[in-house]
Amino acid sequence: MENFAGKVAVVTGAASGIGRALALNLGEQGMKVIASDVSAEGLEGTAALLRGNSAEFISHLTDVSNADAVDELAERAFEEFGAVHVLCNNAGVSTIGRQWELTLDDWAWVLGADLWGPINGVRSFLPRMLASGQPGHIVNTASMGGLMSGPLVGPYSVAKHGVVGLSKGLRAELHDTNINVSVLCPGEVRTGIVPGIRRRIASTGAELSEDARLTVDYLDASLSASMEPESVARMVSDAIGDDRFWILPNSAHYRPILDTEFDEMVNSLDASFTE
Ligand SMILES: NC(=O)c1ccc[n+]([C@@H]2O[C@H](COP(=O)([O-])OP(=O)(O)OC[C@H]3O[C@@H](n4cnc5c(N)ncnc54)[C@H](O)[C@@H]3O)[C@@H](O)[C@H]2O)c1
Repeated sequence: MENFAGKVAVVTGAASGIGRALALNLGEQGMKVIASDVSAEGLEGTAALLRGNSAEFISHLTDVSNADAVDELAERAFEEFGAVHVLCNNAGVSTIGRQWELTLDDWAWVLGADLWGPINGVRSFLPRMLASGQPGHIVNTASMGGLMSGPLVGPYSVAKHGVVGLSKGLRAELHDTNINVSVLCPGEVRTGIVPGIRRRIASTGAELSEDARLTVDYLDASLSASMEPESVARMVSDAIGDDRFWILPNSAHYRPILDTEFDEMVNSLDASFTE
């Protein structure tokens, strides 16, 4: 999509981290921004920064796991700004624990934000975007955790693999339209996601195993010393400008794992029926 100025962007999870950086970046490029999040306090911080940049914006509290709430967000965006050109389905959370030990509520909480969030975004915004006839771009935030899996982050990994699948399918379904799709799969980025994990664990009163505790500490240390969200936002707006599907910030160090997984998979392809 060319020429951002004067166009309209919606960003979920805009109260912190990557979402805040996206809202600011797109605002700086002259887009009208609808900044949305569940956190009123965080959203006020983003609003203050957008105001400081003289961006045209509105803030809207939305829990992306709630389909009706996302519908209201879409309604408001189209009502106030007349169109939506860029939709960043970005809100996300995680928790830590073995898949069989996490509660159903843990699973629902992570899948609600991380997988149903983008699904709700697509269902509420895309029909309106297509009907408007205007060029558009949807950016779904997955993760490198959507391309490979490790221990103790089962719901996150399930949700993010789902977002990659959602995005690939969407790209195929939209190939003959003027709406493009990107999937954002960052490695480590310095954001509020680990404090969010700690808050979740504290709020549920879950007893962490030693390996889970060490994992949270490790994530905290590695994310604190990693890529800034502003750099991710620049990569995202470049990819929107160039219509690129894959956006993989801070990911090259995962190449050996991806190669090993891919080799194992393709070496298991079975041709016995077709030979
Ligand atoms: N930080 C990383 O290293 C990293 C790596 C890969 C992917 N990601 C993804 O990036 C996205 C943004 O996360 P971040 O790292 O900036 O973390 P963050 O915690 O700084 O920001 C996430 C934002 O999403 C909001 N949010 C959470 N649940 C919500 C809901 N149900 N509805 C609306 N808003 C909700 C939070 O309030 C928060 O403001 C997430 O999807 C995350 O999974 C992050």
